[in-house]
Amino acid sequence: MPNEGSYEVALRRSDAIQADLPQHPESYTMLTGDRPTGRLHMGHYFGTLVERVRLQGLGVRTNVIIADYQVITDRDSTDHIRDNVYNMVIDYLACGIDPSKTMIFTHSSVPEANQLMLPFLSLVTEAEMERNPTVKAEQAASGHALTGLLLTYPVHQACDILFCKGNIVPVGRDQLPHIEITSKIARRFNERYGKVFPDVAGLLTSTPLLPGLDGRKMSKSYGNAISLCMSAEETARLIKKSKTDSERNITFDPEGRPGVSALLTTAGICTGRDPKEIADEIGMGGSGQLKRYVTEAVNDYFAPIRERRHEIEGNLDYVRDVLSDGNARARAIAQDTLGEVREAMGMSY
Ligand code: TRP
Repeated sequence: MPNEGSYEVALRRSDAIQADLPQHPESYTMLTGDRPTGRLHMGHYFGTLVERVRLQGLGVRTNVIIADYQVITDRDSTDHIRDNVYNMVIDYLACGIDPSKTMIFTHSSVPEANQLMLPFLSLVTEAEMERNPTVKAEQAASGHALTGLLLTYPVHQACDILFCKGNIVPVGRDQLPHIEITSKIARRFNERYGKVFPDVAGLLTSTPLLPGLDGRKMSKSYGNAISLCMSAEETARLIKKSKTDSERNITFDPEGRPGVSALLTTAGICTGRDPKEIADEIGMGGSGQLKRYVTEAVNDYFAPIRERRHEIEGNLDYVRDVLSDGNARARAIAQDTLGEVREAMGMSY
């Protein structure tokens, strides 16, 4: 977690950019992405997909990377990766990411972006890599020895952002150290070799993290996440078996009643209502009534998205075309940037 001071600075900068975005969308290039380790869920949707679609609609240049090389930062296999990548494209399209406006591509298809890793690694120190809190946390969770790739993946992420000259990156607070290392790399490169890269800022989202159905962090491995690809019946089943508590009267109390409150928050975000108001309305109706309400709220909200998802799923050729078109566009941009980098470094022969 970055210290309060740097968080405050980042937040002020992010607010200033948010205010400027509608006025000067053409000055901004967004880059963000996801690891293709499974299906996207409601946390991804409300936490970042909605924001991507908003930026796309404002006319910002929007780029979304499917970070396939990042999958092997903390795991030993690439099982199901192709299936995960195609499903990720399907989720994006179903949620309103428009491939004629947003470039969707994968790490492994853009060799020139990966090549930026070489000069970039020379701009950071081992100590800087080692004190990154996200890297430390991921290493601890993986139960593995720290690999070279896990240690340096924030530098690889800087390649993702900088090859397309991204200057805004929508992030949660825990990802701020990554943005800091990216802007350091850009600054150091520009100082040493001449200006090639932009200033990079994190666009902090104001929406609080959506908890999983049981009140813990939403994660597929906890079984508390509603994936976008789930059917209405699967959603109903998952909500039905989520843990509440023995008190009948429904109240909103995230500290004391994490399960009940997570359900209220989930219903609130889907209906646009205040969770407290929903709690008051259900009151002595108990958790059975609450679960029915949440199920309907989630299924109503996601019905059109799921319907679109289903249609797109039936047209895999289209999905493959979207990706290969995005990959080709990304590659052309990366070739240009790598050309500029080699030129700045005196390495064009
Ligand atoms: N680290 C992100 C995740 O785990 C994915 C990602 C890869 C990314 N490269 C990025 C995010 C660049 C923002 C910017 O989901």
